[in-house]
Amino acid sequence: MEAIEWNDVYKTGIEVIDYQHKRLIQIINDLIEIHEKEDLRVDLIDFVLDELILYTKYHFEKEEIIMSEIKYDQLDTHKDGHGKFVEMINNFKERTVSSDDITSELLHYLKNWITFHIEVEDKKYVDYIMYSPGIV
Ligand SMILES: [Fe+2]
Repeated sequence: MEAIEWNDVYKTGIEVIDYQHKRLIQIINDLIEIHEKEDLRVDLIDFVLDELILYTKYHFEKEEIIMSEIKYDQLDTHKDGHGKFVEMINNFKERTVSSDDITSELLHYLKNWITFHIEVEDKKYVDYIMYSPGIV
């Protein structure tokens, strides 16, 4: 699987959010790289997955604070999306990563979710911020 390449379409223009998105992509790329190695290190995947779970929690909290500060009208829907993602990763983690198939499925899911979420879902609240200058 190809690593995710940072693309300017992912850019929100909010420095802290762009930084955190890059970090999330980097962690997912670490997982992809580990998975590409011939002798799959399940323990390592598990370790990096924990890092992803922690960092995701930290990042979603930051985004949700911003969205509530600007009184974003789709906050609840956006939060639901975050919640479902966390649930999915935790499910994967339980089934973990004991088989190659599950790891592949996990990586496809992560890659699709993060790129779509940043490019489409996060852009919506960024557009909203345009109308609330001085918030972040
Ligand atoms: Fe988000």
